[in-house]
Amino acid sequence: MAGKTLPPLKIGNLTAEVPIIQGGMGVKVSMSGLASSVANEGGIGVIASVGLAYNREGKYDVDTGEQALRDEIRKARSLTSGIIGVNIMYAISDYERFVKAAIDEDVDLIISGAGMPVDLPRYLDGKDVKLLPIVSSVRAFKLICDFWNHNYNKIPDGVIVEGPKAGGHLGFSYKDIIENKAQSLEQIVTDIIKIADSYTPKIPVIAAGGVFDGADIAKYLNMGASGVQMASRFVCTNECDVHENFKKAWLDAKEEDLVIIKSPVGLPGRVIRNEFVERMIKGETIPFKCTYRCLKTCDTKTIPYCIAKALINAADKDILDKKASVVTLSVPFTKIAVETYGYMAPVKAALESSVVYLAQSFSQFSQVRFNVVSANVIKTSSAAGLPDYIKLSLYAESLTFRKKAIETKEIANVITFLLSQSSSAINGQSVVADAGMIVNVFDREVLEIFYKNKIGIS
Ligand SMILES: Cc1cc2nc3c(=O)[nH]c(=O)nc-3n(C[C@H](O)[C@H](O)[C@H](O)COP(=O)(O)O)c2cc1C
Repeated sequence: MAGKTLPPLKIGNLTAEVPIIQGGMGVKVSMSGLASSVANEGGIGVIASVGLAYNREGKYDVDTGEQALRDEIRKARSLTSGIIGVNIMYAISDYERFVKAAIDEDVDLIISGAGMPVDLPRYLDGKDVKLLPIVSSVRAFKLICDFWNHNYNKIPDGVIVEGPKAGGHLGFSYKDIIENKAQSLEQIVTDIIKIADSYTPKIPVIAAGGVFDGADIAKYLNMGASGVQMASRFVCTNECDVHENFKKAWLDAKEEDLVIIKSPVGLPGRVIRNEFVERMIKGETIPFKCTYRCLKTCDTKTIPYCIAKALINAADKDILDKKASVVTLSVPFTKIAVETYGYMAPVKAALESSVVYLAQSFSQFSQVRFNVVSANVIKTSSAAGLPDYIKLSLYAESLTFRKKAIETKEIANVITFLLSQSSSAINGQSVVADAGMIVNVFDREVLEIFYKNKIGIS
């Protein structure tokens, strides 16, 4: 292809000037940001529908899921006038609802794999949304073409052929992948082109899985493919929607860090080895409560862990370094009444109890710690806003054992200790840094002032 420009990718009446489809990457990896950027460059941008609305607990409800998908499509549309598609995995329970929502939002195309999307054309309702199944074998392609043709008088508007080198879940048996016996992408593409070309109009074939650079693209175009789908290559771009730490894990990964696991989805998956993956490979299980069965075939009683939770952890929770320490500042007034502190006392109490909750829940998948420093009255700008702040701080000072107010620097030192690994055994605690104030209620000096002023005894 040297010296030649890339041919456009035509899917029906859609023309992408650059014959690259950005592969959908679920659980918040390819959203409107990446999809619109790719579309603005002349390629086809794809929003992955799965997991857009999972919250950090892996909890999910379908209304939020559909709304999140609609929001992402609208956002992408506001950022580009290029071609926008949606990837909807056939395996998910919300399949029908997501397909209908995507069609209702007038996306340009729907790409659907992770199962046989045999009934996809049923939802078109006269709309011109292009439908592209993802297949990994000639057999699956033939089956879909025959079924669609027979039942809906329709053939696919294009087909994504995904080979064994793809990122994410793979449409091959675990054994074939491990033993390197899966058919190569080159072979499957060649075979599928023969069938795709026999239709009128010809079905554009798009090669996916391990397509990495210009030479790879040229190879498949020269073989007769109309374009390529690339996913992994986009993960580490600035435009990709996933968190920077997710990208960093990819950038830091070496070839030997890539492993194939048996995913609870029922397919083998290519993943980057990390602490969690190691535990799963060793056969550990992570008990979980399923609030919503997001995969049609998921047997929540027998699978070793919740894939939704694992993926949302990867996309969101790894925002924190695995050994991170989180410290928040509170006051000793959550259990003693200070009139002028008002509603801040219950707010701080809620903060302290959240810290205990976070410490417990993060320990299920990381070593991240959460602690509170419960500090005596110190000079912060918010404290200065308290009514009678000066009086309060002088009184607090008089109650310290040492008769000297706490300095901001001293609290910073305690925080530094809690942030450091020296405090690795402390988790979910409130560390009181008040020079004794809170336990010194019968302080001799304070009592004497009380007797003098109130009772007149010296
Ligand atoms: C992080 C990640 C998430 C993915 N999520 C999905 C998905 O939700 N649905 C899907 O059909 N394919 C998914 N894929 C597969 C891609 O869309 C694409 O076909 C495949 O990764 C192509 O191979 P490549 O990554 O080597 O370019 C995912 C791939 C990756 C790397």
